[in-house]
Amino acid sequence: MHKILFVCLGNICRSPFAEAALKHFVRQSGLQDSYIIDSAGIGGWHVGQRPDRRMVEAAWQRGYKMEHFGRQVCADDFLIFDMLIGMDDSNIDSLEQIAPSLEAKAKIRRMVDFVSDDFRKKHPNSVIDSVPDPYYGGTAGFYYAIDLIEDACQGLMLQLEKQ
Ligand code: 4NP
Repeated sequence: MHKILFVCLGNICRSPFAEAALKHFVRQSGLQDSYIIDSAGIGGWHVGQRPDRRMVEAAWQRGYKMEHFGRQVCADDFLIFDMLIGMDDSNIDSLEQIAPSLEAKAKIRRMVDFVSDDFRKKHPNSVIDSVPDPYYGGTAGFYYAIDLIEDACQGLMLQLEKQ
C-alpha cells in the first residue's frame, strides 16, 4: 500500500489538483486498491472549502474532476502517510517544523523531484525548483501548475511501482 499526502499552502489549488491527478493515473492503471491519496494545506484558511474555482475550471478543461474539501496538515499525518510531498520550499520548511520526529521528517519530499527530464527539456527557460503558487496570478499559472503536477505524478507513480 502506498499512502501519499500532497501538501501546499492553502489546499485549494496545487495539492488538491495533485490528489486528483494521481488518483486518475492510479485508477487508469487499475491500482486504486494499492493507494491512499489525500491532500492538505499548511494554513487553515480554507478548511472545509471546495478548491479554488479557477483551478476547478482549468482541471475540468483537462478532464479532471476535483472532489476534495480543504483541510489542514497535522502531526498525525506523519503517522498515517508514508510520503508527504510539498509543492515548494516554503511548504517543505513548514512540514519540517510540524514533523514530530526524525523518522517523520524523512517522509517529506519535494514535488519537483519527480518531474521528468522530458518536461525540463520542454521548458528550457524555466527553472523548475517548485510548483509555483498560481493563486495570485492569471489563468496561465493554473495550466502550468497542471502540466507540472501531471508530469510529477506520473514520475512518482513510476518510482513507486518500480519498488
Ligand atoms: P495553494 O494556493 O497553496 O496552491 O492552495 C493558495 C491558496 C490560498 C492562499 C495561498 C495559496 N491563501 O493565501 O489564501
